Amino acid sequence: MAVILDEAPADAGAREALLDRAFGAGRFTKTCERLREGRIPASGLALKAVDETGRMIGTLRFWHVTIGTERPALMLGPLAVESASREGGVGSSLMRAGLARAAALGHDAVILVGDRPYYERFGFSGEATAELEMPGPVERDRFLALELKAGALAGASGEVRGAGAVAFAPRKSVKDRVAARAA
Ligand SMILES: CC(C)(COP(=O)(O)OP(=O)(O)OC[C@H]1O[C@@H](n2cnc3c(N)ncnc32)[C@H](O)[C@@H]1OP(=O)(O)O)[C@@H](O)C(=O)NCCC(=O)NCCS
Repeated sequence: MAVILDEAPADAGAREALLDRAFGAGRFTKTCERLREGRIPASGLALKAVDETGRMIGTLRFWHVTIGTERPALMLGPLAVESASREGGVGSSLMRAGLARAAALGHDAVILVGDRPYYERFGFSGEATAELEMPGPVERDRFLALELKAGALAGASGEVRGAGAVAFAPRKSVKDRVAARAA
């Protein structure tokens, strides 16, 4: 039976290997990646599923985004379960735990790009994303949203942008540092 836990920093290697197996090398070209790159997941919203031996068999994270000028939301993904552990409810356990955690933390809404037949069972639909733009190509029928607070996405429109803490500070060039010192 799988247990859902918070991801620890030491889990990064196992998580990345799991994602490589689940999505292949092309995973970094996805439009959602443009919203994640260089950022860290939302606080308390990097989850893992482990089996009885403690081995990671599933991963799910959420990321801060803004919609339009200032509407905050989370972006869900990637969600992946080790192939040998699929069809046993692990993905659903991660989804339910993640969405419950996001609601408990006071988040308003969640967006994602994924297989509608899978995510519909958790309440996601395409209604609220019709007027949203992603920073790259997106298949409209896979662009879904879920309100955690009723009305949170009412009238939502505009561009979805990455938000929240960055994983690393961009290094200033020597020229910039010299110019800053001289100023
Ligand atoms: C999608 C994924 C996370 C589901 O994990 P899981 O642990 O097998 O999911 P669960 O056991 O909770 O749910 C299984 C159910 O979801 C359905 N399902 C699984 N993947 C699906 C998909 N991509 N589209 C539609 N339904 C799907 C199964 O048919 C099954 O349906 P049932 O309950 O009617 O029998 C897993 O298949 C996976 O890692 N896939 C590769 C990575 C991926 O595509 N991730 C994102 C999905 S957009």
